[in-house]
Amino acid sequence: MKKSLLLIMSTALAGFSASAMGGERVGDFALIDHLGAQHHMAWYDDQRAVVILPQGVDSTDAAALDALQDLRARYEQQGVSFFLLNPGLQTDREAVVADLAELGVELPVLMDDTHLVTEALGVTRMDEVVVYDPSSFEISYRGPIQAATETAITGLLNGERSDLVAVAGTGSMIANNIAEHASLSYVNDIAPIIAENCAECHREGGIAPFAMDSSLAVQGWSPMIREVVLTKRMPPGQIDNKVGHKMKNEMNLSDEEMQKLVRWVDAGSPVDGDEDPLTALTWTGRNALRKTGALLSKGAFKSLKQRINPEQFGGAPLLGLTQNVIKAHGSSNRNHVSGAVKIALDLVQHDMLSQMALDVKEANEIFRPERLVGA
Ligand code: HEC
Repeated sequence: MKKSLLLIMSTALAGFSASAMGGERVGDFALIDHLGAQHHMAWYDDQRAVVILPQGVDSTDAAALDALQDLRARYEQQGVSFFLLNPGLQTDREAVVADLAELGVELPVLMDDTHLVTEALGVTRMDEVVVYDPSSFEISYRGPIQAATETAITGLLNGERSDLVAVAGTGSMIANNIAEHASLSYVNDIAPIIAENCAECHREGGIAPFAMDSSLAVQGWSPMIREVVLTKRMPPGQIDNKVGHKMKNEMNLSDEEMQKLVRWVDAGSPVDGDEDPLTALTWTGRNALRKTGALLSKGAFKSLKQRINPEQFGGAPLLGLTQNVIKAHGSSNRNHVSGAVKIALDLVQHDMLSQMALDVKEANEIFRPERLVGA
């Protein structure tokens, strides 16, 4: 226990190059797959092991993929989940969908657009597979698929905790932009991201439980900041921002902002400069309300719901479909029909489908039914 705590601390202090070498613990993360479904590793804690292999359009390691399919055939039924991971080589999901169809493989491809999960897992080559324990967030094997991979899997199936076995791969190197962020500046890179995306809530009198109003505060919270970025928990209410349409009040961080935050934390959260841009921030009520409004957009959804009265409007939204559908009564008169059209317009204007998808996603995260079994 003590050892792993020390490892976590040294991981936080030692820098990204050592983030997985220094200790087995990778931490929790959340990624969207090539079909748009979110996978939060903490959700897989009912699985005994997770096995992850890099994927790239026309660059997946063929021998490694064969070996993975072989492991999958033998262990999938025993509580081992298998994933592919696109390490930011492609962000175009359709290209990945086509590549998988060509390979004839049906596995979720976790889209690591920022490369940050790949980095945390310590994977640098296309033939390096990772065996990950989704309940302790530790990796027990990293390297080419060989006898030791299977030993790591059976170890987890037997409930054993073992040290990381790391073997360097020989496959092609995975490209990354780590060098661009080799010397991030608190003043020029980090404080502006916090000021723009976090500080309106995380300030004295803000709605968040602690203030990020100085370099010291940001440093102190940096391990947590790393975690909420990798699990996409902050800023709150994130939506899939790669689906083509921009939503109003969208608060997601860009890929580059996420890279800067996590790599700065991995580098030990160094602070430069004499002036602290965060202590200099001032807030007007309106400014703060704008962001809070996004968080509370559910309020708009609620009032919309209150206005949807089938008696009055002669139509009601049908749930469980992927498009806006209004069901009206067969005996509807002219007013009812025009009311139903108005509701349809309202639904589209409020982008209610996205709101509901978000709410369902959040609810799923909190109330995973399998969690309740035996609880
Ligand atoms: C819309 C308001 C809002 C914004 C913007 C926001 N936060 Fe938060 N944050 C909250 C609230 C509320 C909580 C406490 C409840 C929770 O953990 O969900 C919180 C909690 C946290 C925590 C503690 C997590 C925990 O498990 O308790 C961290 C770390 C954090 N935020 C970091 C950030 C970072 C980094 C940003 C910017 C990239 C950010 N927040 C943007 C409202 C916000």
